[in-house]
Amino acid sequence: MLRKLIRVSLVAALGLTATLLAYGAATASPQDKKDEVPDIKEIMAKGHKGTDAYLAKIKTATKDGKWEDAQKYAKTLAFFGEALGKNKPSKGDADSWKALCEKYAASTKAVLEAADKKDAKGVNAGLAAIGGSCGACHKAHK
Ligand code: HEC
Repeated sequence: MLRKLIRVSLVAALGLTATLLAYGAATASPQDKKDEVPDIKEIMAKGHKGTDAYLAKIKTATKDGKWEDAQKYAKTLAFFGEALGKNKPSKGDADSWKALCEKYAASTKAVLEAADKKDAKGVNAGLAAIGGSCGACHKAHK
């Protein structure tokens, strides 16, 4: 009877250890980096660079009237817009960075709101505002 009890509690203890180990491995995995803020380079490359970036994709989808696509891309761009200011640039002063990032966040949000309303003019105005903002920010912070 006692021996059986010991065996049962031993099995339970082993089970608990295994569970804790598995939990530890899961929480330490690089997967939860997903929740982290994308860095400046990632935002710039995926957001702006070339025909495969969100700016270009939103523009094309809007022109083709593919609103679901435009909205999906605009959502990611707006997420990037929020994320940019959470980063620290390697150059330039903090107040300037904050102001430029707020402007960028507002423009990306405007694009999303226009896409949600299927307002092509609004989307293009927002994209143009972003397109005209690269130089000033790069001069100060890149
Ligand atoms: C609010 C500031 C800001 C705005 C607006 C901005 N950028 Fe940038 N960009 C940066 C900073 C800062 C870097 C440097 C990142 C680094 O090297 O860590 C950068 C780097 C880049 C890079 C190089 C990325 C790499 O892999 O090294 C590209 C390409 C780029 N930007 C494109 C653009 C384009 C195109 C626009 C406008 C449509 C734009 N950016 C608007 C701040 C900005």
